[in-house]
Amino acid sequence: MTKILVLYYSHYGHVAKLAAAIAEGARSVPDTEIVIKRVPELTPDEDAERHGSPSAVPLASVDELGGYDAILFGTPTRFGNMAAPMRSFLDRTGGLWVKCALVGKPCGVFTSTGTGGGNESTIISFATTLIHHGMVFIGLPYSCPELADISELKGGSPWGAATIAGADGSRQPSAKELAQARFQGKHVASIAGRLKQ
Ligand SMILES: Cc1cc2nc3c(=O)[nH]c(=O)nc-3n(C[C@H](O)[C@H](O)[C@H](O)COP(=O)(O)O)c2cc1C
Repeated sequence: MTKILVLYYSHYGHVAKLAAAIAEGARSVPDTEIVIKRVPELTPDEDAERHGSPSAVPLASVDELGGYDAILFGTPTRFGNMAAPMRSFLDRTGGLWVKCALVGKPCGVFTSTGTGGGNESTIISFATTLIHHGMVFIGLPYSCPELADISELKGGSPWGAATIAGADGSRQPSAKELAQARFQGKHVASIAGRLKQ
């Protein structure tokens, strides 16, 4: 079995919906076990205000990351970078880095933006941390049919799946954005499976 972690932070629920689609795509690859977890808010106040991330989704611990064959990370943008709770979680992975615990593991990143700023830079800047860990970064290839489709407003890029939440957060992930997320999950899971063999 190839064990894959979908690890996300989501304050208003958009990244959580993409995470479910990523997991669905990954699950479609035979002999794959999918675990979905989230990173905690930084303060109890933020936790109380959080929307859309069902409490049924468990919190991840830093130490468990080394136990997966591949990891897909999801975060909303904050001024073009990952959100602080994800940054804080990753800043506690120094012990894993010392042990080279994530070296050679396939990974990918997906995101959500309010108006589109950060659609690519959030993932590109996120990749810096993953490359320092020696992970193998996998993007969203143009063999995903929706990627080159510009018939409607849509997040996502060759760097990874994304949605556009709207300035007030009212827009929900579209069918094409969810299809891109499913494709990314399946793509990373199938590469992880082949690497594991
Ligand atoms: C401090 C802060 C900074 C943000 N910066 C950006 C930004 O640079 N570009 C953008 O399009 N949206 C920005 N947003 C909007 C968030 O990306 C949006 O709330 C998020 O994508 C929703 O994802 P979620 O529902 O998973 O929390 C920002 C939001 C906050 C709170």
